[in-house]
Amino acid sequence: MAVRGNSIIKGIEINEVIRLLNRAYADEWLAYYQYFIEAKVITGIMKDAAIAELNQHATDELRHANMVADRILQLGGTPLLHPQEWFSHTNCGYEEPKEFDVVAILEDSIKGEQCAISTYSSIADMVKDKDIITYDIVSQILADEVEHEEDLQSLHDDIADFVKDIKNSCNR
Ligand SMILES: [Fe+2]
Ligand SMILES: [Fe+2]
Repeated sequence: MAVRGNSIIKGIEINEVIRLLNRAYADEWLAYYQYFIEAKVITGIMKDAAIAELNQHATDELRHANMVADRILQLGGTPLLHPQEWFSHTNCGYEEPKEFDVVAILEDSIKGEQCAISTYSSIADMVKDKDIITYDIVSQILADEVEHEEDLQSLHDDIADFVKDIKNSCNR
């Protein structure tokens, strides 16, 4: 634990920061697995573009898990040690893919990103002006989650438009 490093945290309990970060850590692992498995089972039109996006997001979520775990350790905490704890600590839960078509998968993923944005935004509010380092880390992650939502939404809209055009031309 970084004694001087932690002494600069003011106005919030370090254990509270660790608790918030461990919940986010659970979210990142579940998000990682959700993208990983979605990229495997996805079917339908333009699925290759979606697979590339989902795999990129999986890589990013794992990188976030790394960043969060390192900060927890720096604060003197221990990242969750058992995958079962991911389910008891998660903010955003896990959206098991039930329908495998591209549009349904993208919609599930957008929901996940929206939850991640709310989670990191509230952590940023809680640590702002109190724990600068955690604030910096969660701000970086938050920027990625905003980009993720945007990427998924624009892909979703492109595919939905494409499907609509095909249906229209078939009905002509
Ligand atoms: Fe993430
Ligand atoms: Fe994300």
